[in-house]
Amino acid sequence: MRSLNEKTNQKPNQALPAKIFHWVSLISLFLMMTSGLQIYNANPVFGGRGGIHIPAIFGLGGWLAGGRHWHFAMMWLFALNLLWYGVYVLWTRRWRHRYASGKDLKALVVSQNEKRKNYAWHRLAYTLLIPLLLLSIFTGLGMYKPAQFYWIVDSFGGWEALRITHFMAIPITLILAGIHSQLGRKVGGDRLTDSMFWTD
Ligand code: HEM
Ligand code: HEM
Repeated sequence: MRSLNEKTNQKPNQALPAKIFHWVSLISLFLMMTSGLQIYNANPVFGGRGGIHIPAIFGLGGWLAGGRHWHFAMMWLFALNLLWYGVYVLWTRRWRHRYASGKDLKALVVSQNEKRKNYAWHRLAYTLLIPLLLLSIFTGLGMYKPAQFYWIVDSFGGWEALRITHFMAIPITLILAGIHSQLGRKVGGDRLTDSMFWTD
C-alpha cells in the first residue's frame, strides 16, 4: 500500500508504463475534450443551435470541420493508449493488485481506520476512470460509424441519448480526475503525485 511509503519514508516508485499511460492520457484527453467542445458548439446537444454554447476559448479547431479533424485524429492516440495499457495490465497481471477490489469496498463500509478508507476511495476513483473512458470510446464509435454500429445507437435509445452520454464523458472525467488527484495527495502527499509525473 503506497501510503505506507509515507510512514517508512520510502520514496514512492511508479512503473514506467503507468507513467507513460498518464502523460499520454492527459495530453490526448485534453485534445479530445477541447475538440469535442468545438463540435458541440456547432449544434449544442443542450438546446440546439440557439442553445447552451461553451466559451470559444475551450474549443480546438476553430470551426466544426477543424474540431472534427482534431477529434478524429486524436481518437487514435487516445484509444491506442488505453489499448496498450490494457494489454500491459492483463499481461503483467497488474489488475490483480492495482485496482479497487472487494477488500477496498469492505474497508469503505466497515473500517474505522481513516487512512485505510482514504486509500480505498483513492483506488476506487482511478479504477472508475477506466470504464468511463472505455464508455466514451464505445459511444464515440456509435457516433463515428452509425451505419455499421447502429446497434450502439439503438442500445442508448436513439441518437440524442447517445450524444448526451458521449458529452457527459467531459464533466465526469474532470470530476473523477480531480477527486483522483486530490485523494492521491491525501494518501501520499506531493511525493506520490511527483512519482507519477516527474521523478524516476
Ligand atoms: C475513441 C474515442 C472517441 C471517438 C471515436 C469519438 C467520436 C466522436 C464523434 C463521431 C463525434 C460527433 C462528431 C460530429 O457529429 O461531427 C464526437 C463528438 C464529441 N466528442 Fe467524441 N469521440 C471519442 C472520445 C471522446 C472523448 C474521450 C471525449 C471527452 C472526454 C469526447 C468528447 C466529445 C464531445 C464533447 C463531442 C460533442 C458532442 C455533441 O455535441 O454531440 N469524445 N465524438
Ligand atoms: C484522467 C486521467 C487519469 C487517468 C485515466 C488515471 C488513471 C490512473 C490509473 C489507472 C492508475 C493506476 C496505474 C497503475 O498502477 O497501473 C493511476 C494511478 C495514479 N494516478 Fe492517475 N489517472 C489520471 C489522472 C491523474 C492525475 C491528474 C493525477 C495527479 C495530478 C494522477 C495521479 C496518480 C497517482 C499519484 C497514481 C498512483 C497511485 C498510487 O500509487 O497509489 N492521475 N491513475
